[in-house]
Amino acid sequence: MTDKGYSLGRIALDWLKDALHAQETGGLSWHMSAWLSRKRWEPTQKSIDDFLMRHQVSQSELLLIGGSAGWMMSSPWLSQFKKIKMIDIDPLAPLFFYINHGKALRKSGTAWGFERRDGIRELSLLIKEYPQSFIWFDNVLGQQCFKLKDEDLVLRQLKHIKVILKNSHWGSIHDWLSGPVDESLAQPPSTSFLLDNANSIAFGKAKETENTDPNTLILNNKEMGFDVGTQILLNQVNATGEWQDHLSTEVFSAYQSCQLIPWYFKPAYCHFLIASFTQINE
Ligand SMILES: C[S@@+](CC[C@H](N)C(=O)[O-])C[C@H]1O[C@@H](n2cnc3c(N)ncnc32)[C@H](O)[C@@H]1O
Repeated sequence: MTDKGYSLGRIALDWLKDALHAQETGGLSWHMSAWLSRKRWEPTQKSIDDFLMRHQVSQSELLLIGGSAGWMMSSPWLSQFKKIKMIDIDPLAPLFFYINHGKALRKSGTAWGFERRDGIRELSLLIKEYPQSFIWFDNVLGQQCFKLKDEDLVLRQLKHIKVILKNSHWGSIHDWLSGPVDESLAQPPSTSFLLDNANSIAFGKAKETENTDPNTLILNNKEMGFDVGTQILLNQVNATGEWQDHLSTEVFSAYQSCQLIPWYFKPAYCHFLIASFTQINE
C-alpha cells in the first residue's frame, strides 16, 4: 500500500500528471509529438535500428527502462526476446506500446508486461528482481535533467549507474546535447558517427569561456568552448544559438565505443543521441 497520509486524491493527481507529461520527460505530449513527427524522425529511427541490430544480445529477457511506447524502437529488435518487462513512470506507455508493437510481439510469441515505477531510483532493486535480463535504457537517461532539476544530483546519479550495473549486461541510448541548428545553411547529415574513443573525440568537457569566439556556444546559459572533435560534430549539424547539455557525459565509461546519432527533433532543432552496449565478461 501507500505511505500514511498519501491520499487517493494525491495518487490520482500524480497518475494524471505522469500521463500528461511524465515529469517533463514524456507522457501524452511525447506520444503526440512522436506520432506527428514520424516522417521527420525516420532517418534517426533507421540509424537506431541499424545500431541495435548490429549488436548481438545473448539474453532472452529484456528489462526496458523508459521505453515509453517504443516510438523509436524497432519491432524486429524487440521480437528477439522471449520476455520484456517495461518500466516507465508514464501510465499511458503500455497502451501506445501495444499499438506500436503488440502485433509483432504476438507473432514472435514475446510475452510483455508493464510496471509503473522509477527505473533509475529503483535500479538496484530491479537488477535483483530481473537478474537474467538484458537492461536497455531507451532515451531516458538524458531526460533526468528535466525530471530532477538538480544538476549535481543528476550528474552523480548518472555517473553511478555504471557502478550499479557492473555485473549486468546493459546498454543505453540517450540525449547528450540538443539545440537550434541553422537550416538555411547546407543540409546537415542524417548519418550517424562512430566514436571509438568517446573521451578524446566527443567528451572533451565543455569549458566556460569569457570571450566571444566562433567556436563557442551558449550551453545551459553559459558560454562554453569545445574541443576540436566536439566542435566538428556541432559544425556538421550547423549548431547555433543556445544549447542544452543533458548531463549524460559520464553514463558510459571512458574509451567505450559509442554511436552518435543526430536526431532532427523538430524544424531547426537537433539532438545528439549517444548509444552503446556494455557486455561483462563471464
Ligand atoms: C523521451 S521518452 C522515451 C521515448 C522512447 N525511447 C520511445 O521510443 O518512445 C522518455 C521516457 O522515459 C520515461 N521516464 C523518465 N524518467 C523515468 C524514470 N526515472 N524511470 C522510468 N521511466 C522514466 C518517461 O515517462 C518517458 O516515457
